[in-house]
Amino acid sequence: MRLQKIVIAIDGYSACGKSTTAKEVAKVLGYRYIDSGAMYRAVTLYFLDHHVSLTNPKEIDRALQQISITFKVNAKSFTETYLNGLNVEREIRKMRVSDQVSQVSAIKQVREAMVAQQRKLGKERGIVMDGRDIGTVVFPDAELKLFMTADILVRAFRRQREWLDQDRLIDLDEVLENIQKRDQIDTTREESPLRKADDAVMIDTTHITIDEQVDQVIGLAISKIIVNI
Ligand code: CDP
Repeated sequence: MRLQKIVIAIDGYSACGKSTTAKEVAKVLGYRYIDSGAMYRAVTLYFLDHHVSLTNPKEIDRALQQISITFKVNAKSFTETYLNGLNVEREIRKMRVSDQVSQVSAIKQVREAMVAQQRKLGKERGIVMDGRDIGTVVFPDAELKLFMTADILVRAFRRQREWLDQDRLIDLDEVLENIQKRDQIDTTREESPLRKADDAVMIDTTHITIDEQVDQVIGLAISKIIVNI
C-alpha cells in the first residue's frame, strides 16, 4: 500500500458550503486550498476600480496583463487573496463585486488567463480547488470530483448569516436575487458553464451539517489516496 497526492475538485452553486468544506478537507489532508472564485472576484475588483469596459477585448487584455493574484495564509491559518500585493480578501466579498463577478467570469479572455494560473497551482497535486469548472475544464483528470448543490433558500440564509458574522445585515431578498442571477449566468454562459462532470459525486447539502459534508469528502478522498500495490 502507498499514498498518492491527488487533486480534489469541488464544483457547484453559490453558498452550498463548497469553500468551507474545501478549506477543512485541505487542512485535514495537509493539502493546499485554492479558491478559484476568489481569483475571478479579484479580477472583477480590478476591472471595477480601473473602469475596464467588459465589451472591449483590448482593454481587457491590457488589464489582465497588469493583474497578479496570489494567496497567503494569515496568522489564523486562513488563506487570504492578494491583488498586486494588496490584501483584498474583505473587498472581494462585498456586494459590488458579487454583483458583477459572473459577468466578468463569463468573458473568454478572463477564463483563459485564470485557468492557466489554476493549472500551474495544481501541477504538484496535493490540492483542493473549488469553483464552477474545476472538474470539467481546469482538472478533467482530478482523482476526486464533487458537485455540490442545495435548496436555494437554504443557500440564501447561509450567505446572509455569513454577512451577519461580519456585522452586516443584508436583506434576504437582495441575497436571494444575487444568488439566483449568478446561478443563471453561471449555468447558461457559453464559456465553461457550471455543470456536473460525468464522473463527479453529487452532494446535496440542504439537510447536512458542514462536519457531515467534510466527513463525506474525506471518506471519498481516502479511497483515492490509498493505492494498493
Ligand atoms: O462564494 P460563492 O460560491 O458565492 O462564489 P465564488 O466561488 O466566490 O465565485 C464567484 C463567481 O465567480 C461565480 O458566481 C462564478 O460566476 C465565477 N466563478 C467561475 O466562473 N469559475 C470558477 N471556477 C469559480 C468562480
